[in-house]
Amino acid sequence: MLMPHLAEAKKRTKNKVMIKKYEIKDEFKKLGLGKTYFIKTYGCQMNVHDSENIKAILEQMGFKEVSSMDQADLVLLNTCAIRENAHNKVFGMIGRLKHMKEEKPNIITGICGCMAQEEVVVNEILDKYRFLDIVFGTHNINELPMILAKAMHQNKIEVDVKTIEGDIIENMPVKRDSKYKAWVNIMYGCDKFCTYCIVPYTRGKQRSRRFEDIINEVESLKKDGYKEVTLLGQNVNAYGKDLGLDYDMSDLLEGVANTGIERVRFVTSHPWDFTDKMIEVIGKYPNIMPYIHLPLQSGSDRILKLMGRKYTKESYLELFDKIKKTVPNASITTDIIVGFPGETEEDFLETLDVVNRCKYDSAFTFIFSPREGTPAAKMKDDTPLSVKEERLHRLNETVNKYALEANQKYLGKVVSVLLENVSEKDEGMLAGYTDTMKLVNVKAPKDMLGKIVDVKITDVKTWSMDGEIA
Ligand code: 5AD
Ligand code: SF4
Repeated sequence: MLMPHLAEAKKRTKNKVMIKKYEIKDEFKKLGLGKTYFIKTYGCQMNVHDSENIKAILEQMGFKEVSSMDQADLVLLNTCAIRENAHNKVFGMIGRLKHMKEEKPNIITGICGCMAQEEVVVNEILDKYRFLDIVFGTHNINELPMILAKAMHQNKIEVDVKTIEGDIIENMPVKRDSKYKAWVNIMYGCDKFCTYCIVPYTRGKQRSRRFEDIINEVESLKKDGYKEVTLLGQNVNAYGKDLGLDYDMSDLLEGVANTGIERVRFVTSHPWDFTDKMIEVIGKYPNIMPYIHLPLQSGSDRILKLMGRKYTKESYLELFDKIKKTVPNASITTDIIVGFPGETEEDFLETLDVVNRCKYDSAFTFIFSPREGTPAAKMKDDTPLSVKEERLHRLNETVNKYALEANQKYLGKVVSVLLENVSEKDEGMLAGYTDTMKLVNVKAPKDMLGKIVDVKITDVKTWSMDGEIA
């Protein structure tokens, strides 16, 4: 049993990050033969991509994917710890797994991902949910074959969570959800320690992948017919800083753009490390998509300071204007937290003021959720939930107004869309995203899937648009 430790997770080691190659031992390759698996994924794109790796590992072991939990011999929950509601959803699902296990005692059940990295969560599992078979974390996905083998040979829960980040593992197998667009990790972990955020504890210290490994992955994706890559990291702008070399995110963006892949995206940017050179590179290369997710979190300098965000309202607005000036067609979206401990009406009005000035293309908005072990969870918070909810409501009304306005500018225009899947609502429609990350439903035959096409926008709503092939 290897348990996560909160106090250790807060520390940053000086350990040199080693780069290792993934390997699976032959003895594990037949363990899953004749068995099926189902993974439910919560949280961000990082987790979605981790699940793609987990799926491929399971398939190397002989397991086959099924589309519903009830048919599966192995059920894994890849969890998210970012807010209380993600946490609660997972515990709800664990309750469901318990019933399944009672009916079918031979199924294997487990949790992984960010919640598995939390000491409180694993303690609760050991206390109340010992029926689970495996718990493993974000740092040892590559050890899954061994962990599963152990669990399959014993009659008790196998907890295997490393607190201190592991090495960078190259050559991980991957079963991608899409044939047209791919997630590419460029870095792991985060060293920013925003006071509300649990990620630096669940994902460990910042570790950048080597430049050449990233470029090789993008080149091989291009060869395989992929049209779009999204470079992934908790804070991509800080790419390379931990390597102590003389290249940074702007060089990486340039390198990836020069592979000639048709579309390059990246998430998430922290306003702190957004350099002028990065903005220039985004403006210069037509295959770097004019879409930037730029989390604001708050518009109040006082709250930003308490959050540990290292920028002010003014410097954020300056950066925003610089991006819009160099990349005029850029669509910019954001994340905002309301009800941070001590947030007053005046503080909140500063946030609304930034939204009114930036007129974001869209925004993800949240009520502050205290996370065990983070500094903000200990701050005095005397704003009633009803006040926070009312602020969220006002914020959402403002955000939605600008989202619709931003979309209205597209009416009648011709835009390029990567057609990715069949629309959920209508079989005769394909859905995809513009370069600026607007969701468009297009009347088009299925053989156009995977193509980047010109689409004339015929109708706009707040969260999507309709169009026809131009
Ligand atoms: N409470 C509420 N929202 C949070 N986020 C991160 N941590 C918390 C928290 N404790 C939000 C931030 C971040 C997004 C991914 O989730 O806005 O940008
Ligand atoms: Fe959730 Fe953050 Fe973990 Fe992503 S990195 S799954 S958002 S806690």
